[in-house]
Amino acid sequence: MALVVLGGEGFLGRNLTSVLRRKGHVVAQMSRRTGVDLTDLSSIKSCLARERPDAVFNCAAHVGSIHYVMENAAVVAHDNMQMAINLYRAVAEACPQAHVVNPLSNCSYPGDADIHYEPDWLKGEPHHSVFAYANAKRFIYVLARCYREQFGIRTTNFLVPNAFGVGDHLDTSRTHAISGMIVRMITAKRRGDQRFEVWGSGRPVREWGYVDDIAEIMSRALELDEDLVYPVNIAQNRGATISESAEAIKTAVAYPGELWFNTQYEDGAARKVLDDTHFRKLFPTYRFIDHAEAIRRTVAYYESALPVSSS
Ligand SMILES: NC(=O)c1ccc[n+]([C@@H]2O[C@H](COP(=O)([O-])OP(=O)(O)OC[C@H]3O[C@@H](n4cnc5c(N)ncnc54)[C@H](OP(=O)(O)O)[C@@H]3O)[C@@H](O)[C@H]2O)c1
Repeated sequence: MALVVLGGEGFLGRNLTSVLRRKGHVVAQMSRRTGVDLTDLSSIKSCLARERPDAVFNCAAHVGSIHYVMENAAVVAHDNMQMAINLYRAVAEACPQAHVVNPLSNCSYPGDADIHYEPDWLKGEPHHSVFAYANAKRFIYVLARCYREQFGIRTTNFLVPNAFGVGDHLDTSRTHAISGMIVRMITAKRRGDQRFEVWGSGRPVREWGYVDDIAEIMSRALELDEDLVYPVNIAQNRGATISESAEAIKTAVAYPGELWFNTQYEDGAARKVLDDTHFRKLFPTYRFIDHAEAIRRTVAYYESALPVSSS
């Protein structure tokens, strides 16, 4: 198939492009770096008219750390909503046959939800710290549903947990907790630190998404019998405690010092995982990569990608 991956040079987009190419698809990777700006309708429309894709994977976003999203709430909300508006209008006008596939972050669940269960997705506000970004993700669903109803545009929306993996950002202000901890522990080892600080008690359970799994599952949207406008979790319904993840990183990094759990930091919810009931119905035989193995691969990537001067 002919495919477009928007944000194709980003963390998720690059991994997704590799999976799609391995499966034999012809993929155009698009972003501002390759001359396509989603905040400009004519730019995305002429791209889609030229590529005439069978599917558009939308990994483009104006995204950053929680701090960044709070500081730039209006711009983040505006840009991401504008990008979604332009995308759907361009698809409807230039390639209405294309199937749109969106990764929606699970931060768009209600802020107080411990188990992320799809029927409860919109039953409460997202956490105030991600208000702008999370609501922009919900807005994608609104557009997808309306374009499905009025113009028959097909969309599959996935709700995706915090990701980590090969190709993740080197700057810790752009990474989620697992990659951030890997970068900090490699740096601590290079510096010869005797003690590594883990924020909080280490007891909370969190579900993570290894980027290879996310990319593989997103690619399977093309194999489903029908599109899924109402989103489905990419889910295992199980996570790891922060201390299990920290220990796995310590082993993979061969960090010789001790882990120190600093309980001055708040733990937050005891357990946050995504319900996998719907996911298992769709992909009953899918086997996720083991968490410790995913951490080993990510550590190997960071050990070669991180400049030694960063320590
Ligand atoms: N990483 C995660 O943990 C995670 C988890 C769940 C869901 N997701 C979702 O997956 C998507 C991708 O995340 P990511 O982590 O891969 O982000 P990323 O590495 O920052 O990639 C974002 C991409 O979007 C492109 N982009 C930004 N503004 C654009 C514009 N105006 N026009 C065209 N392209 C633009 C960027 O390239 P240019 O700067 O060259 O334009 C970049 O390639 C997001 O929607 C995110 O919410 C990510």
